[in-house]
Amino acid sequence: MNSKEAALYSKTRGFQVATYRLYVPDFEIKADDKILDVGCGTGDLAYEFGDVAQSVIGFDISKEMINFARHSYKRPNVTYELADVLSCVDIFPDWKGAFDKVVSIHVLHWVKDRKGAFQSIHDCLKPGGECFLLISGPMNQIMGHGDDELPHYLKNHDKWKEHLKGYENKFYNRLTLEDNVKLLESVGFEVVKGHSYKPCDELDIDKDQIKDYLQTLLGHLSYLPEQYRDKFLDDATDWCKQNFPVNQRGNAYFKIEIIMLHAKKTKKE
Ligand SMILES: C[S@@+](CC[C@H](N)C(=O)[O-])C[C@H]1O[C@@H](n2cnc3c(N)ncnc32)[C@H](O)[C@@H]1O
Repeated sequence: MNSKEAALYSKTRGFQVATYRLYVPDFEIKADDKILDVGCGTGDLAYEFGDVAQSVIGFDISKEMINFARHSYKRPNVTYELADVLSCVDIFPDWKGAFDKVVSIHVLHWVKDRKGAFQSIHDCLKPGGECFLLISGPMNQIMGHGDDELPHYLKNHDKWKEHLKGYENKFYNRLTLEDNVKLLESVGFEVVKGHSYKPCDELDIDKDQIKDYLQTLLGHLSYLPEQYRDKFLDDATDWCKQNFPVNQRGNAYFKIEIIMLHAKKTKKE
């Protein structure tokens, strides 16, 4: 991900918000809840949770995201911290067993050690606490590893392949729903609900926003000299416009599998 583009990300994250509203309806916040938002990004959702919850901590590995959140989504009961999900309990030992609910929206496919991330989330929850997660599954037309997905096209592109020699696609979306369920159970969770959502043509994206959206996602950009980045983004955008399916309204959407997991930390350890 290109997390340096925090302001642009905040403007183009309509897809993340729409999928959260559509696929995580069971995430109900109570007035006495202490909530942890893992990979809170620009803080938009953490701020919203703070409307009802007693307190919210949002954290993210990107300092640009956290700086943006601290400046743009201020609320007395919402705080933002810089941390990696894999080591957050070491840095903030008082988070251990402290939260009623943990939420993480479109984050854990950026973390190679999925079991380690689940273990951290488990550590942060109170006994009986619950987590709600949205993670990309094996199909992802923009970031995935398939021959018919964008990274394959970019890696083999005549103009860009030389520049991208050292690029590694650090998008870890190969685990299926069943793999995720097993990993959650292996760290002590009881899975309440797990579902794999196939591409949804309702979740269309504005064709004029595709380029900005790609700019926030494609880590390739740091491998390219500054003067080529715009042209590179144009090529990637054209590929999306040609390859994204189109719905009945004539709008584009993209092929993505989204895994929703709702799990509970059992009361007995
Ligand atoms: C697609 S954004 C989602 C942000 C936010 N949850 C939302 O719904 O808009 C993914 C976020 O995960 C963060 N992230 C990636 N790896 C992380 C890690 N190991 N620990 C914490 N945050 C991480 C990125 O910096 C980025 O802000």
